[in-house]
Amino acid sequence: MSEHASKYTRNQPYTSKVLVNDRLTGPESEKETIHIELALEEGMTYTPGDAVGIIPTNREQAVEGVLKALGFDGTERVLDHYKVEISLHDALTTRLGIGKLGRGNLNQYAKLCGENVPAGLKALMGQENKAIAEEYVWGREFIDLATEFPGIVKQPQELFNVLQRLTPRMYSIASSQAAHPDQVHTTVRVVRYNAHHADRQGVCSGHLGERAPVNSTMPIFLHENNAFRLPEDTNAPVIMIGPGTGIAPFRAFLEHRQALGEKGDMWLFFGEQRSVSDYLYKEQFLGMQKDGLLTRLDTAFSRDQGKKVYVQDRMQEKAAELYAWLERGAYFYVCGDASRMAKDVENALLDVIAKGSNGTLEHATEYLGEMKKAKRYQRDVY
Ligand SMILES: Cc1cc2nc3c(=O)[nH]c(=O)nc-3n(C[C@H](O)[C@H](O)[C@H](O)COP(=O)(O)OP(=O)(O)OC[C@H]3O[C@@H](n4cnc5c(N)ncnc54)[C@H](O)[C@@H]3O)c2cc1C
Ligand SMILES: NC(=O)c1ccc[n+]([C@@H]2O[C@H](COP(=O)([O-])OP(=O)(O)OC[C@H]3O[C@@H](n4cnc5c(N)ncnc54)[C@H](OP(=O)(O)O)[C@@H]3O)[C@@H](O)[C@H]2O)c1
Repeated sequence: MSEHASKYTRNQPYTSKVLVNDRLTGPESEKETIHIELALEEGMTYTPGDAVGIIPTNREQAVEGVLKALGFDGTERVLDHYKVEISLHDALTTRLGIGKLGRGNLNQYAKLCGENVPAGLKALMGQENKAIAEEYVWGREFIDLATEFPGIVKQPQELFNVLQRLTPRMYSIASSQAAHPDQVHTTVRVVRYNAHHADRQGVCSGHLGERAPVNSTMPIFLHENNAFRLPEDTNAPVIMIGPGTGIAPFRAFLEHRQALGEKGDMWLFFGEQRSVSDYLYKEQFLGMQKDGLLTRLDTAFSRDQGKKVYVQDRMQEKAAELYAWLERGAYFYVCGDASRMAKDVENALLDVIAKGSNGTLEHATEYLGEMKKAKRYQRDVY
């Protein structure tokens, strides 16, 4: 992915106004998934399939916690990454990543100790202790490290060696400019979890979920992704697999074809936990189905029955028809969870192809290879 040839970049973002911040999931849901609409300046353009980069700040509670753990009051002066002098409080709020820890943070923290690395920290160093260190950082934040091994940071400036820059987070764009010329929409799952006896939240999704009300502002930039595009042939059928927030770019695809009156068939597979609370954009999709824009709409609500049902199960149930669409030249898109879903969906797709063609898995793999070459199999997984 590359950033658009726009004057706004991750280093010089656009200050965008939040126009809408609505919860999509119902009160009974185990998840908090929100729909965000952000204002764009004239001349800022994107294409469905692109992402928007959003630059968060750390929440006050987290900043105060770190200052307390380090024994600083926040008024200390430091030089930021551009050698601009700011207060330590500002640095911890807007410049430094104090959220999730990485092994790199442990190593840098230990370096500050010179020869006197505490035994507990030493046990997390080196290639031979990689697995233990990975386990240690999982679910921990900088405050945990600073609390467990106190008195190590002597000068506030040293934090710039220990902590990474506070980076933007990417979100798949959920809108089409053909429908909303001056806006960009996203679908964000607010990351919340309890680990090591503390309630935690994702830095950016937490910011959007708790501290980005309508009329507040967020620094953003647009991020091009030419590897995830609707077919140039507007009549080509598309199959879209988008469980959870993976739905986002498909809302963009649908809005795009709707706004431009494009006629190609569209088949959406959406999956979430429960239909009553987690059916994201339900009214909009049902409306699109009624209007004939969505030729087919299949849902897999995993927890609506005893046995889990996933999008790939729906694909298997409709195998013959799915294969017929592929034979008609359909483009196949997958967005969402990279860790398991994407692989499981690919296996189901191979199975659908093998069954449809009465062929072997080897044949199906070749068929999928040809689809990839023709850019008819595209994934945006994270
Ligand atoms: C191309 C792309 C597109 C994306 N599109 C979307 C999208 O459309 N919608 C969307 O919501 N997200 C999307 N993401 C993910 C998004 O960029 C962020 O990674 C996500 O919002 C989390 O960021 P955060 O700052 O809230 O959390 P962070 O502060 O980055 O924290 C997340 C980290 O918390 C830790 N963590 C999370 N859960 C647990 C747990 N249960 N136990 C222990 N540790 C845990 C993990 O280390 C995890 O990496 C996309 C990512 C990419 C790369
Ligand atoms: N990097 C981050 O910190 C971050 C932040 C936000 C989201 N994400 C990722 O974004 C993706 C989307 O998250 P989300 O909460 O919106 O949705 P999700 O976790 O992908 O869940 C959506 C639906 O997919 C189901 N599912 C679970 N495993 C599956 C599999 N192997 N194959 C197919 N479906 C499966 C879920 O069922 P069950 O839950 O009932 O099993 C649920 O019904 C996930 O990768 C998530 O980890 C990452």
